[in-house]
Amino acid sequence: MRLKDKVAVVTGGGAGIGRAVAELFAREGARVVVAEIDAGRGEATTAAIRHVGGEAIFVGSDVSKPEDVQAMVNAAVDHYGGLDVLVSNAAIQMHGKDARAHELPDEVWERTMAVNLKGAWLCSKYAIPAMIRQGGGSIVHIASPTGLTGCAPTYTAYSTSKGGMFALTRIMAVDYARDNIRVNAVVPGTTETPLIASLLEDQATRTRLVAKAPLGRLGTAEDVAPLVLFLASDESRYCTGGFYMVDGGLTAD
Ligand SMILES: NC(=O)c1ccc[n+]([C@@H]2O[C@H](COP(=O)([O-])OP(=O)(O)OC[C@H]3O[C@@H](n4cnc5c(N)ncnc54)[C@H](O)[C@@H]3O)[C@@H](O)[C@H]2O)c1
Repeated sequence: MRLKDKVAVVTGGGAGIGRAVAELFAREGARVVVAEIDAGRGEATTAAIRHVGGEAIFVGSDVSKPEDVQAMVNAAVDHYGGLDVLVSNAAIQMHGKDARAHELPDEVWERTMAVNLKGAWLCSKYAIPAMIRQGGGSIVHIASPTGLTGCAPTYTAYSTSKGGMFALTRIMAVDYARDNIRVNAVVPGTTETPLIASLLEDQATRTRLVAKAPLGRLGTAEDVAPLVLFLASDESRYCTGGFYMVDGGLTAD
């Protein structure tokens, strides 16, 4: 019970890494707010958690909208009495639309930034006052190797949004350390989730992506969730401002 009595918000908790994190957190004793733009997915995660005796509520939220994010934080505070952990996980990758810089439509840049980077900032903006009121908290940003290297050619908006997560992690870690709020980033490698399902349907792409990971396989959401749990829990009490890889060696190569 590594998150016993903690209240955790997981954005994008309806699928992939967010769902695995929400379910693991609930198994470890957290009361989980599943914040998700897709109601069917969000409700499915919540039902799965409750089915095995965990505690969770679903809040419909588009993380790019301040009013939705405020409502998400209010739901945690009103329903569970506080907020200890924020996992900023929700993101989009606009396959077939994201492109090289000179070919990238403005609206693809703007939507990608609005969800992936502005969304993460907005979640912190509204979560931090609740964390300060109760004496601290832990924020985990789900970043990506694409924010560190050019490993996803043509994905200009997505890569840039993910690069911003690293800067956001470090400035916030410094700014809120004395408020006892820790801020860290998790860096998953190529992970088999709905986000990239359409890419992986192409066998040549799948083979290429597997070959890029020194450990010789794609990651799973369940590979990533335990690292998020560690950073959310008090076991990581001396960790802040760090970037933690769970990428099968992708960024080491
Ligand atoms: N899958 C990978 O290979 C991979 C690699 C590196 C980093 N990541 C990162 O991991 C995180 C999770 O990715 P995933 O692969 O599990 O994605 P996913 O698409 O499988 O799940 C993301 C969830 O977020 C939700 N969502 C999308 N837009 C939203 C919004 N505006 N507001 C609220 N919810 C929204 C989706 O409905 C979905 O349920 C993302 O930040 C992604 O960038 C993924």
